Amino acid sequence: MYKTPIIFACLAMFGASVCSADAADRTRKQDVPLYKDASASVESRVEDLISRMTLEEKILQLNQYTLGQNDNINNIGETVSQIPGETGSLIYFGDNAVLRNAMQKRAVEQTRLGIPILFGFDVIHGFRTVYPIPLAQAASWNPELAGQACRVAASEAYSAGVNWTFSPMVDIARDARWGRIAEGYGEDPHLASVFSAATVRAYQGDDLSQENNIAACLKHFVGYGASEAGRDYVPTEISRQTLWDTYLPPFEAGVKAGAATLMSSFNNISGTPGSANHYTMTEVVKNRWNHYGFIVADWNAVMQLVNQGLARDGKDAACLAFNAGLDMDMVDNCYGEHLAALVDEGKVSMERVDDAVRRILRLKFMLGLFEKPYTEELPDSERFMLPESLAAVEALAQESMVLLKNEGNVLPLENKASVALVGPMARNQGDLLGSWYGRGRDSDVISIYDGLSGALAGKTEILYAKGCDFDGNDTTGFAEAVAAASQAEAVLLCLGEKRNWSGENASRSTIALPEIQEELLKAVKRAGKPVVVILSNGRSLDLTRIAPLADAVLEIWQPGVMAGPAVAGIITGKYNPSGRLPVTFPYTTGQIPIYYNHRASGRTGSQGRYQDIPSTPMYEFGYGLSYTDFEYGELELSSDTFRAGDRITASITVKNSGRRDGKETVQWYISDPACSITRPVRELKHFEKKLIPAGEEAVFTFEIDPMRDLSFVDHDGKRFLEPGDYYIMVKDRKYKITLADE
Ligand code: GLC
Repeated sequence: MYKTPIIFACLAMFGASVCSADAADRTRKQDVPLYKDASASVESRVEDLISRMTLEEKILQLNQYTLGQNDNINNIGETVSQIPGETGSLIYFGDNAVLRNAMQKRAVEQTRLGIPILFGFDVIHGFRTVYPIPLAQAASWNPELAGQACRVAASEAYSAGVNWTFSPMVDIARDARWGRIAEGYGEDPHLASVFSAATVRAYQGDDLSQENNIAACLKHFVGYGASEAGRDYVPTEISRQTLWDTYLPPFEAGVKAGAATLMSSFNNISGTPGSANHYTMTEVVKNRWNHYGFIVADWNAVMQLVNQGLARDGKDAACLAFNAGLDMDMVDNCYGEHLAALVDEGKVSMERVDDAVRRILRLKFMLGLFEKPYTEELPDSERFMLPESLAAVEALAQESMVLLKNEGNVLPLENKASVALVGPMARNQGDLLGSWYGRGRDSDVISIYDGLSGALAGKTEILYAKGCDFDGNDTTGFAEAVAAASQAEAVLLCLGEKRNWSGENASRSTIALPEIQEELLKAVKRAGKPVVVILSNGRSLDLTRIAPLADAVLEIWQPGVMAGPAVAGIITGKYNPSGRLPVTFPYTTGQIPIYYNHRASGRTGSQGRYQDIPSTPMYEFGYGLSYTDFEYGELELSSDTFRAGDRITASITVKNSGRRDGKETVQWYISDPACSITRPVRELKHFEKKLIPAGEEAVFTFEIDPMRDLSFVDHDGKRFLEPGDYYIMVKDRKYKITLADE
């Protein structure tokens, strides 16, 4: 008997076992459909699954309904009692995963193919740990900090079973009457593009299937911020060239950063509503940008095509929207009701249906929902308002605050025996959250009063008086406020907006604060003490009757749960304010629209000016003060002539000549004074924020790529670079460079 050394016997047995295991594996795999095989590629799983689906199952994937107590006042939808388990997506209104997991179980275990549901929610600036509104985030000019806050939001949303956020909102807005200016990153395409990419990367991470990563959604596609007269949901008039130059860039930046989805907009774009616009949704996003994901409608936006005068009825609306490239229908069920008939009638092709379904399935596979359809149910204490989360959001809050005025360096307050803390915002909590506060709670917010009490304990007495409410005409509280001001060495007057004065469906005819707040300022001013006005608001404000009476003005926006510590940190000097305005503050509402990157007029000097008010804004885009002084050196360039393929290095040295460390943001602008398509007088193309210790200096550099940074874009999105002179600008420095004729 031929004795086989034991090792070979083991190997043989192992080999045999492997062969039999492999065979068993193949058999097993043959038993398990390819789409359920996690080792297979996403694309092969998509193809396998779609090949197994009926038309009805495909159409159900194209629909989104709501699940849970819908508390969005603008969109109370019909509660769908019997939600089909085959539904593509649900907007989930819970802050734990119990209800969501139960619904997911129906989808995964009680339907023919077991396709998981994609759960989405408006996680706009925090899920439970609410941080500064996006407009405030932009004011920080610190996309890294914004990204850290978004990581907090993603992990909290993920822990509740939300795998998809309807954020970031990247609509360029230049009309502060429009309440949704609060939700975006301001008036400039470059600044908004940087924050768009940073938030997408933060939400999605490097691999969507990993824990605490959620899909992003760029919204509202496109041009919603141009809503006429700042009213919401109304038409917009946008030329193709302006679309490419102003409104598309933040979306392109987000798509390039890997954003999984976009959301179509309510607005009519010069006759073709955003939710039925084939040019924007298919030609641009799908064909030009090769987007891998899908586009979801905004709430009822498909059915609204009837109101907008485009569609005859819901069926027509479904046909127009779907064929334009809108893949998923949010809550109005137009697709669920009409797509099958439209396919039967040949008005919608199976190719288009499969394209949309592929995109949705692709994201579900990328998110790992087939492998991990359920969310671990953790206690709130292990996932919400964690110390490291609060530290991250406080850092963002304090860096977002903008010091607009500081006469005689009245701030920071030092060595005061007492201060009067006055105004409707002084002890307020809920309104500091701002709009779209997700699952945030008023009680989570540390008020300005509590923040200052903590910071000044044992050092400074705080004399509190509310003075008045946000609006109305009850001045009975003024006397108490004036008395507090009279007793104190300085006054901190906390004014601003209620959180529902901005956000969706929150347009205001004036950007001035209610008169009673201005009257309160006048009253306390008469006490003759230094007055520091602290403003909490979701838009640019008309400060013409406030700023002149204040010795200092601090814009804190709507900073979220860490409002108190962030404000106290700046008031006491723990933090040196470093925010810069992401939107222009007009002199009055009558100046709107007014923004820095406007085209030039044909008339100069005194012509083309208002007769009754100044024609310049109160505070410009990019403006903000510090507790220290920064001195700018001369602009240096590697060359003053260049060719299209060259690189030019621009640099400037900035010295902190004051006594406090401070962060400075160097903003690099370009201008092209003569172009075949006239350009804005200035265009932000690069910025860099650095800490410069007191007495030290830092070099800031801009590596100019002419085709990226100096080119312009035509009506169909093609970039071009023309020979001639260009200017590079920093502060008041302006340096000419010339593109030679090829
Ligand atoms: C709203 C908003 C949109 C939001 C959606 C779902 O109408 O326009 O920003 O994501 O509906 O709540």
